[in-house]
Amino acid sequence: MEDVVISLGGSLVNPGGIDENFLQGFSEMINSLIDKYRFVIVVGGGKLARDYIEIARKRGESEYNLDLIGIMATRINALLVKSYIKNARYAQDLKEITNGNVVMGGTVPGHTTDAVSLLAAELLGVKRVINATTVDGVYDKDPKVNKDARLIKDIRYADLLGMFYLNSSGAGPNQVLDFLSIKIAERSGIEIMVINGRDIDNFKKAIEGDDFRGTRVCGP
Ligand code: UTP
Repeated sequence: MEDVVISLGGSLVNPGGIDENFLQGFSEMINSLIDKYRFVIVVGGGKLARDYIEIARKRGESEYNLDLIGIMATRINALLVKSYIKNARYAQDLKEITNGNVVMGGTVPGHTTDAVSLLAAELLGVKRVINATTVDGVYDKDPKVNKDARLIKDIRYADLLGMFYLNSSGAGPNQVLDFLSIKIAERSGIEIMVINGRDIDNFKKAIEGDDFRGTRVCGP
C-alpha cells in the first residue's frame, strides 16, 4: 500500500474557529481512500497557534517558548483531525509513524509542520508530499496585492528558494512554503504538491496522482 504524506494547513482546520464543514468533507474523502493508501497527516496550528503566540510574544516569551506554544496548538488540531479518520492513531513523534494511519502535529521548536511532513516523507522513503493550504498554490507575486499575480504550475527547488532572496522582507513567496521545508525536499528529491485544501475534489486528484490545480515543486 502506498504511503501518502499530507501537510494539512492549520488554517483549514481552524481559520478562526473550528471548520467542521471542512473536516467533514476532508475526512469523507480520506476515509473513502483508506483501503488504497496509508496516510500520514501532519496538522498545522492555524489561528489557535497564531493567537496564543501573538499574546505570549507581547509578554516577552522567548521564541523557543513561542514554538512550544505553537506545537501544542498543532497537537490539539491533530487530535481533533484524528477523531475524523477511520482507524487512525495519534502520534507525537516521527519515530511512531512507520505503520497504520497516523495523524500528528509538530515535534520540536525551530521549524513548522510543513518541515515535519517533509521529514516524515524522508523517513518513510516517500517521494511526494501534499501540502494543503488555503491558497491555490505558489504565485509569482503576492496575489493579495497584485491583481496580475500568476499561479505557478511547476517550479524547481532552486527557483523557489531564489524567490526567498528576492523578497526584501525575508519571508518566502506568499509564505506558502518555508525555506527549511524546500531544503529538505531538495536534498531528498521529494516533490511538494501545493494545493488549496478546500477544493476536496482537487485534493483527491492530487492524492491519486491525477492532474490537479496547484503547484508542483520539484527538481530539474
Ligand atoms: P505551523 O506548522 O502551523 O506553522 O505551526 P505556520 O507555518 O506558522 O502555520 P500555517 O502552515 O500557515 O498554518 C505553528 C507554529 O508552531 C511552531 C512554530 O512556532 C510554528 O510557527 N512549531 C510547529 C514548531 O516549533 N515545531 C514544529 O514542529 C511545528
